[in-house]
Amino acid sequence: MFDVITIGSAVRDVFVQSRDFKVLKTKVFKTGEALAMSLGSKLYIEDLKSFTGGGAVNTAITFANQGLKVGALTVVGDDSAGHSLRDYFQEKGIARDFLIVDKKGNTACSIILTTGKRGRTILSYGGAEWHLRKSDIPWKKLAETKWIYLNHLGGESADLVPEIIGYADRNNIKVAWNPGKTQLEDKKRILPYLYDIDVFIVNQEEASYVTGELYEEREKIFSKLDKWVRGLVIMTRGAKGVEVSDGKTRWSSGVLPLKRVVDRTGAGDAFGSGLVAALIKKPGDIEYAIQFASANATGVLTQWGASKGLLKKSDSPTKYGTLQIKKTML
Ligand SMILES: Nc1ncnc2c1ncn2[C@@H]1O[C@H](COP(=O)(O)OP(=O)(O)OP(=O)(O)O)[C@@H](O)[C@H]1O
Ligand SMILES: [Mg+2]
Repeated sequence: MFDVITIGSAVRDVFVQSRDFKVLKTKVFKTGEALAMSLGSKLYIEDLKSFTGGGAVNTAITFANQGLKVGALTVVGDDSAGHSLRDYFQEKGIARDFLIVDKKGNTACSIILTTGKRGRTILSYGGAEWHLRKSDIPWKKLAETKWIYLNHLGGESADLVPEIIGYADRNNIKVAWNPGKTQLEDKKRILPYLYDIDVFIVNQEEASYVTGELYEEREKIFSKLDKWVRGLVIMTRGAKGVEVSDGKTRWSSGVLPLKRVVDRTGAGDAFGSGLVAALIKKPGDIEYAIQFASANATGVLTQWGASKGLLKKSDSPTKYGTLQIKKTML
């Protein structure tokens, strides 16, 4: 029996840092800024780092670090990135029963270009990322889990979201859901399923899309979601912290002290998976779960990549300090 099976993407993240990348003001792009480099030149890279990433992998690492029995349902290509991910699963103790190899596609890759100081531009190559098909899923084996942690599914894989949630419901599997862009773009892909969710995780911007309320209307957004979701609603707010509710009680907190954010990739994944890992370990203890999730996210922010810095089993959840959590009865 698995404690949890994560579902989503597996990506190789490559960070490329160069002082020769310049940030220019421009009207060509909506953001008003461009990351530029001189055309025809040979530029030197000061730092090149490569990590595993993607929702299914990042979240599975949190669970594996806590000694929980975890598998990751995801697709990689039959290439070196795919093979190294397979070895990595073995090393981390993530079951490979759900790791699907697409013979035709390449493993997804994100190239993150940064000057090292201001911002970053991400070049994203999907490859085999969304080649997850209904017939590839070992459905019977999927029933052997207590929890499913569902991340963004895009492309043709997005059609599997209702199937997975329905399957979990029929088999008494708890579902944590952190929907992605494809789900957020179309409310029909989210709203009908909210009632079946045990833990729904979104940031405030995503929550405003789901509810159709303005970003600034934090209370309206949160109370709508709280009504729609059967279980816990988690709304993360970046450096401002998090709001959590189970419909009867509400918990609000800020963040743990942090001198410098080294790299924010994976903060959301670390928070959501940390929260669910804590709930598996101490069911019903929401304050412990918020503390644990925050520490897991803080750890990731202090290091490069989406999985370095995640709490280890031997780490105390108060490693980075103790959060003040405000509890209100609704
Ligand atoms: N600057 C920060 N300082 C301290 N903690 C932070 C900071 N940014 C994020 N966190 C922690 O990480 C949690 C999740 O962050 P955030 O709300 O940015 O998630 P997200 O938008 O889903 O991120 P992602 O881009 O990884 O999907 C926050 O609730 C907070 O606990
Ligand atoms: Mg997120």
